[in-house]
Amino acid sequence: MAFVITIDGPSGSGKGTIASRLAAQLGWRCLDSGALYRLLGYAAEQSGVSLDNGARLAEIALGMKIEFQQDKILLDGKDVSLAIRTEQAGNAASKVAAVPEVRTALLEWQRACAIEPGLVADGRDMGSVVFPFADVKIFLDASAEERARRRYNQLIEKGLSANLGSLIAEISERDDRDRNRSVAPLKAPEGALIVDSTALSIDEVLKRVMDRVRKAL
Ligand code: C5P
Repeated sequence: MAFVITIDGPSGSGKGTIASRLAAQLGWRCLDSGALYRLLGYAAEQSGVSLDNGARLAEIALGMKIEFQQDKILLDGKDVSLAIRTEQAGNAASKVAAVPEVRTALLEWQRACAIEPGLVADGRDMGSVVFPFADVKIFLDASAEERARRRYNQLIEKGLSANLGSLIAEISERDDRDRNRSVAPLKAPEGALIVDSTALSIDEVLKRVMDRVRKAL
């Protein structure tokens, strides 16, 4: 059985960075589940499918050919790494993610990523729904202002345009939708180590997470 570590939390809490650093240290596979919802939101918008059409979205989700490469994500052979990181794609992702048929369609694909020796999976419902029997569960949080500031820096570094004020508003709106939806809402799973990263560096967060992982290994 693969050892599974789940890292859940709101947008910009640092879970993606922590998950990939942890996976690299352990030499394990990393699942960025948010990318799946971003890919689906992007694919739906490209083909003019409404973001609440469950049947059509599930069809697109099941037909997507996804390749996670070293530093690229390909959708049906096309590099969409930058396109899926925009705020528009994030918002589209959060809309399709609230559709029950979408979550069902993507469930098995995600579970199949748990291969030996281990998997680090980050998202919103990794510890609560996708991997309820995970060996270690982490919930990463941070204030909305700090998360917006981090997102702002990431977008600028990637050469994309950004506005801090609208990022705070968008992040709060996305949080509301993710926390209050009826299927797989964002919440700390039972038994999770909760880490508030507002005033912590990446290395400090990583150390706390690694301490917990070592105890469970
Ligand atoms: O983590 P990221 O910002 O890339 O996720 C984009 C959106 O995908 C989130 O706002 C959330 O609505 C959705 N998501 C989800 N469940 C996951 C991962 C992401 O609903 N496991």
